[in-house]
Amino acid sequence: MRLATPPGFATEVFLLEAPDPSLLPEGPWTLVGDQRLREAWIEGGLPEPSDALWISVSEEEKKLRTVIPWLEHWARIPLHRDATVVALGGGVLSDLAGLAAALYLRGIAWQVWPTTLLGMVDAALGGKTGADLAAGKNLVGAFHAPKRLVACTGFLRTLPERHMENGRWELVKTAILQGELGWATEILQTGPVRTGWIERALAYKAGVVHRDPREAGERRLLNLGHTLGHALEAASGYQLLHGEAVGLGLLASCLLGEEQGLKPFPAELLDALARRLAPLAPLVAPWQACLPLLHRDKKARHAPGHTEDAPVTEIHCILPRPGESAIQRVLAPRVWEAPHARLVDLLDREATRA
Ligand SMILES: NC(=O)c1ccc[n+]([C@@H]2O[C@H](COP(=O)([O-])OP(=O)(O)OC[C@H]3O[C@@H](n4cnc5c(N)ncnc54)[C@H](O)[C@@H]3O)[C@@H](O)[C@H]2O)c1
Repeated sequence: MRLATPPGFATEVFLLEAPDPSLLPEGPWTLVGDQRLREAWIEGGLPEPSDALWISVSEEEKKLRTVIPWLEHWARIPLHRDATVVALGGGVLSDLAGLAAALYLRGIAWQVWPTTLLGMVDAALGGKTGADLAAGKNLVGAFHAPKRLVACTGFLRTLPERHMENGRWELVKTAILQGELGWATEILQTGPVRTGWIERALAYKAGVVHRDPREAGERRLLNLGHTLGHALEAASGYQLLHGEAVGLGLLASCLLGEEQGLKPFPAELLDALARRLAPLAPLVAPWQACLPLLHRDKKARHAPGHTEDAPVTEIHCILPRPGESAIQRVLAPRVWEAPHARLVDLLDREATRA
């Protein structure tokens, strides 16, 4: 099924159960695929180009140096300007393959076939490609939208449960971002992930990134849960997966909204969030470890009027509201201290109950 996207949207978006070979590029193309998916690709009746790269790439290898051999390989084929790169894999692979496509011959076309839930509902859509630097995640990259996104839910059959849960947090984020508490509650219940949720998340993100492709305003809302989430993710030494960290940051954002005088979230929803997040409690770093990371966040900046001796940092925060769309506020990093403490309390309480 081709999903409706805004007129002029850069990417055609397809959501299917089984893969459809007719959605592959019409002209010359090559593949960069996660080797874990090779069997499913072939079993799905999809052709395997002789110059395909089947690789295994972890978050630790999400580096510029990883893509250089791919570029050299494409130049040896040689891959021409009219060729398309097809990226098959999770967010790490699609961020890197999209970046490589942006760099090769100053930019060739690419398609993305996401194979993780997080990839399907978030990473594959919106044209952000990137790699990590020693100083932090995704600090280098390019905006280079894929021509086509093909999300085949059948590929999720082999995805480990922890990674399904990881993607579920991005779905919960999308629901809470819009103030849709009924939808959030539904996603938080046990039971399989529904295709309709993926469709809804894709439609929402397509609208936002179309209106604000370069993240100058509205697109920043998609960072809900990421401010404290990124700090927790880094402070855990990346033992927390990205979506898990976003889930924790999401609950803390609901609590921060209340602290900032916004309408509070119903206790039942906060409890449901805490219950599902409770297994992550041992990976939640203490506040003292998070604060310096908040100061170094890539969205942090020096507040006007700061001095060399006493720099004051402010940070972009997204505050969710029940029944309404989230809002943006620029706040001092220390405002997260109280929500962090409440988050730890809520998780401990749920972990003891379990
Ligand atoms: N570009 C964006 O807008 C954007 C948005 C969100 C996240 N991201 C990036 O996405 C990355 C995280 O992506 P992710 O959560 O997909 O993790 P991932 O790409 O590391 O994949 C998770 C693991 O699952 C394996 N895998 C993938 N599909 C599988 C399948 N169907 N069956 C079995 N195993 C499978 C992978 O080999 C990997 O080991 C981060 O680097 C993050 O920065 C990018």
